[in-house]
Amino acid sequence: MSDTPAKRLFIKTYGCQMNVYDSARMADVLAPLGYAPAESPADADMVILNTCHIREKAAEKVFSDLGRVRAYRSERAAAGKDMIIAVAGCVAQAEGAEIMARAPFVDIVLGPQTYHRLPEMVARAARARDEKKGDGKAGAKSAGILDTEFPVEPKFDHLPAPRAEGPAAFLSIQEGCDKFCTFCVVPYTRGAEYSRPVADILREAKSLVESGAREITLLGQNVNAYHGAGPAGEVWGLGRLARALAGIEGLSRIRYTTSHPRDMDDDLMAAHRDVPALMPFLHLPVQSGSDKILEAMNRGHTADDYRRIIATLREYRPDMALSSDFIVGYPGESDKDFEATMDLVREVTFAQAFSFKYSARAGTPAAVLKTQIPEDVKDARLYALQDLLLEQQRAFNQASVGRTFDVLLTHAGRHPGQLVGKSPYLQAVHVMADPKYIGTVARLKVVSLEPNSLGAVWADASKSTIKTA
Ligand code: 5AD
Ligand code: SF4
Repeated sequence: MSDTPAKRLFIKTYGCQMNVYDSARMADVLAPLGYAPAESPADADMVILNTCHIREKAAEKVFSDLGRVRAYRSERAAAGKDMIIAVAGCVAQAEGAEIMARAPFVDIVLGPQTYHRLPEMVARAARARDEKKGDGKAGAKSAGILDTEFPVEPKFDHLPAPRAEGPAAFLSIQEGCDKFCTFCVVPYTRGAEYSRPVADILREAKSLVESGAREITLLGQNVNAYHGAGPAGEVWGLGRLARALAGIEGLSRIRYTTSHPRDMDDDLMAAHRDVPALMPFLHLPVQSGSDKILEAMNRGHTADDYRRIIATLREYRPDMALSSDFIVGYPGESDKDFEATMDLVREVTFAQAFSFKYSARAGTPAAVLKTQIPEDVKDARLYALQDLLLEQQRAFNQASVGRTFDVLLTHAGRHPGQLVGKSPYLQAVHVMADPKYIGTVARLKVVSLEPNSLGAVWADASKSTIKTA
């Protein structure tokens, strides 16, 4: 064994599942350079902030966190150790030059489409630092590598095959967005829609299952806009892809996120009826229940279109549970428009949901509208909506008590002898069970409702590790 200490890498991930996936892939491309995970940024030879630009708060947080990382670097420098600082993700893509100007100590700024080139960037950054040290200018402004183009060749072809790190894995099948909702920065930061070829996805899914995955969540900014090239060059939609994935032996569960109502085509909806592995839980953002606001947002569908989609899905899969995203206080939103959102929520009922105050993003059409809504009005609407959504979430979880579910057990819980898993509806479920059951789908009966999870026992009492009299 070598005596050289491994280099340590700390990645902080902000924002969506795509970023979680990208962070894992960045760790994968840096592993061959000797980088292993660090416990904290203070111990790291390299820190990456994988940023989110979707709302103003998330973007601003990056600059305050950078200040903290810089302080860690100074502490390390005093101990004769170095640190490379990189900013990745959507803030990097949108504000790369501003980051270089506001935080000139950052070594690397890279967009979401270029991280396969990280090893080369790291080597260049390290060389630039050594040269500076040679000049006696250590700690001065770094060479500053900026790599935020959208390369013609997709990065997926240059990434190592991912391995599942547990029974639940993610697989990115689609990126980018061409929908240009008037409030959203994604089409500018993530670029045009791109779908990976079917053969690549099937290969990657098989290798994830071989390394232990039992559930795969297909990821994409607009995942159901998927239109990848099939083996004979024909175009496959997500429904067809889900059917093919369901044929992989050992893969028990398939999910996908995030979807757009406009792309819920008949074949995909029918797949929810025909493919048992497709989980009966769908995150389908609607944003608003008002047709006037939906049109202003350029969403391309009405509130009734959304209702019809939900009705069809529930006809095909009566236990379908739903999640959504909502924006309150979009420019021009009246009390009546907001009430239409509340009405839609009351009708559809959601198992969980995310709701946000509209945040004006520079460069998007909605940001320059004169009809911006005062902050206190947005606050009041958000409060009312979240109250209703939380009530629905509690009711959904409460209704789970007494039911028997298939739960994919994914890891050990906080208490000795406890395992934690996911219900079909993405609820966290814990049960007393032997660790040998990690990675299996267990038939469990839910017996209690905890603040953030459900407590369960084995439906088949012989598997219980607790003997009851
Ligand atoms: N302001 C508030 N929320 C936004 N989202 C996207 N852009 C904005 C914005 N400018 C929300 C939408 C989207 C989710 C990922 O973030 O609800 O579905
Ligand atoms: Fe943004 Fe709309 Fe594209 Fe979703 S569909 S990523 S909200 S532009």
